[in-house]
Amino acid sequence: MSDRIIMAFESSADETSVAIVKNGNDILSLETATQIKSHQRFGGIVPEVASRHHIEQVTILADAALTDAGLTYSDLTAIAVTFGPGLVGALLIGVTAAKTIAWAHNLPLVPVVHMAGHISAAQFVAPIVYPAMALMVSGGHTEFVLMPNEYEYIVVGDTRDDAAGESYDKVGRTMGLQYPAGKLIDEMAHRGAVTYQLPRALMNDGLLDFSFSGLKSAVINLKHNADQRGEALDLDNLAASFQDAVLDMLLTKTATALKRYPVKSFIVAGGVAANHGLREGLQALLASHPEITYIPVPLKLAGDNAAMIGAAGDIAYRHGARAGWDLNAKPGEEF
Ligand code: KG4
Ligand code: ZN
Repeated sequence: MSDRIIMAFESSADETSVAIVKNGNDILSLETATQIKSHQRFGGIVPEVASRHHIEQVTILADAALTDAGLTYSDLTAIAVTFGPGLVGALLIGVTAAKTIAWAHNLPLVPVVHMAGHISAAQFVAPIVYPAMALMVSGGHTEFVLMPNEYEYIVVGDTRDDAAGESYDKVGRTMGLQYPAGKLIDEMAHRGAVTYQLPRALMNDGLLDFSFSGLKSAVINLKHNADQRGEALDLDNLAASFQDAVLDMLLTKTATALKRYPVKSFIVAGGVAANHGLREGLQALLASHPEITYIPVPLKLAGDNAAMIGAAGDIAYRHGARAGWDLNAKPGEEF
């Protein structure tokens, strides 16, 4: 059987990314332009600024991805693209570029849900064995996704308010850190000690749902009260205390999820999957489940990138998913 070569586009937030992926698990090229610097002075992503960057970058990156892989458009099997969720203007750039290239070169167009992409990045580490469970933790999502097979995604736990990454970024802002703050807080937490008492939510009821807004508010209030008293907080210790609470919630619920669903592999995916404390905690937890293959996505592919869309696109392509030329961006798309 001949190889499947998929060119994939990702532009849902602040990374423009194009990749070429062979057979769903081999990255032939990956070109990513991050816009973080342009958004940092605003403390978060500015949608209009994001769209303008995507427009400037997308065709340059597509050309570079082909050149880097030593291929031409005639070598491609299909074009895959993130069509949601995300910022509508940002998504539209990737969708329009993907449609145009697919139409011009007579290639099938494969629609990909952003979170399916994050989870599929695990395929670059090891083949996923099904049924599988994924903890999908990013700036926009915190959910347990049960996959009875490779193309069925069932959300069995979700956040009721903020996503984990969002709480990192908001707490970081309170602490005066630059956006996005997850990586910095992770580093500070490793230097600090758990000295501040912070709340955990929905812990005792066996629920797989999450809530991070109470924890976020507790940190904001602590900082506000300290400022009013003219006291300085130990920010490394605050980071350690905050991360301890987040990990407590993520790990306790993962233990519940693994008891409830007898899966063969467990994946941690999404931007927050780069968190060292989380990776260590899950490694320890999965050590007591030798029957489950633990697949953390590669550190470098935890955040948004198009290689993961190529991996998910390969699955979708094999299952016959095809979009028409009327494919639209769906900012609120979920599994
Ligand atoms: O998956 P991603 O790149 O974009 C979304 O789809 O949301 O995730 C970005 C999120 C941000 O909130 C960022 O602060 C967080 O991932 N993040 C981290 C770490 N690295 C990135 N959070 C905690 N620890 C990290 N090391
Ligand atoms: Zn993402």
